[in-house]
Amino acid sequence: MIHEFYKIEKVSGTLELPGDKSISHRAVMFSAMAKGKSRIHHLSNGEDVKSTKNSFIQLGTEINITKDFVEVTGRGFKGFIKPAHPLDMGNSGTTTRLISGILAAQNFSTTLIGDRYLSKRPMKRIVTPLSQMGANIESATEYTLPLRIFPVEKLTPIQYELPVASAQVKSAVLLAGLHCEGVTSVIEKIPSRDHTERMLGLTTETGGETKTILASIKNYPVPKEYFVPADISTAAFFIILAVLSKQSILRLKDVSLNPTRTGILDILSEMGAKIEIENKRQIAGENLGDIIVYSSELKNIEIPEAIIPNIIDEIPILAIAGVFADGHFTIKNASELRGKETDRIKAVCSNLKLLGLDVEEFPDGFSVAGSVSNENVLFESYGDHRIAMSFGILSMLLKSGGKVNNFDCVSVSNPDFLIQLKKIIR
Ligand code: S3P
Repeated sequence: MIHEFYKIEKVSGTLELPGDKSISHRAVMFSAMAKGKSRIHHLSNGEDVKSTKNSFIQLGTEINITKDFVEVTGRGFKGFIKPAHPLDMGNSGTTTRLISGILAAQNFSTTLIGDRYLSKRPMKRIVTPLSQMGANIESATEYTLPLRIFPVEKLTPIQYELPVASAQVKSAVLLAGLHCEGVTSVIEKIPSRDHTERMLGLTTETGGETKTILASIKNYPVPKEYFVPADISTAAFFIILAVLSKQSILRLKDVSLNPTRTGILDILSEMGAKIEIENKRQIAGENLGDIIVYSSELKNIEIPEAIIPNIIDEIPILAIAGVFADGHFTIKNASELRGKETDRIKAVCSNLKLLGLDVEEFPDGFSVAGSVSNENVLFESYGDHRIAMSFGILSMLLKSGGKVNNFDCVSVSNPDFLIQLKKIIR
């Protein structure tokens, strides 16, 4: 479906956004692993989290959706049952990589399949450490889906230094580690999002330049009540729309303010955005609060390498802010973007070129300069929810608007994106 966006004058009001995708995946997984009933409040309604829910239902987990919460009756240690069919991961890299750490420890074999985008994404990054733990995993040549995970006698704990700053790889190893008597340790040099260690209450040791996270059977999840704050990665689209529209003020309620995710607020503030936080608090170990954003004039800044994993999902929409900010927008050290739902470096560059901007693509990033010379462009989403939303926002800031092809893919993280927009456009 092609969606057409018109130039907007301003935005104002208050939005309540869906639950954080990363925390939602983990809340479902940990509840399914725990023996007994857990409750999850404000679970993400996106397709990706549905892939996680459906996979665990196929593995024998009971999941009931009530008006106020989702109730999960978990199976307990190694208690899952062999699914009747291959598990469909849909578009979700997080489901695939995290569930592999759990399935590697079960007493039956499983096959993981996914959509055409996920089927191209790199899985060697989890197959390597899980195999070191003794897991038996077969993948397609190129280490892509389908993955076939076979039962093994037992997994052995490892000490693993992450070769890439990836919370998904870190989590896959730690989740497998929950099935071992001995302690598995994961060492990270560049911090990535820390929801797994926070939600499981894992011991972490920081020393010098590294953080080490420890997991063993002692940390195996027990039934709990989870409260999922709103997703800051989803909020980022609305934050940037409000910053770049004239005379706008927008309040986003109860958004996750986990310090491994708030880099986007730091970068935007440094670029000149007026952003305030109210009602700051902690629920179940996660920080949250209301974000209030005002229209602001932006200037481009140098984006430090160490913050890249913290803002990795926000880079496409940050680039849109960069187009309207003073000076050139440049992002480097972000080659991880090439392995996301689509190659996000290529996708952003191709779309920005359609506007007549001066775009330079690097192996690990891109730069954008110049001004918009082409009108009413048809952007391509490349089936990637964050590319679709980024260019939807950009279109609303252009004189003649713009269109986005294959816009429906936004439902991966936020099926109600267009409804939320309608509420705030004045
Ligand atoms: C995620 C980690 C990040 C992020 C993804 C969600 C998670 O991926 O891009 O959207 O929930 O652990 P990587 O770990 O591959 O960087």
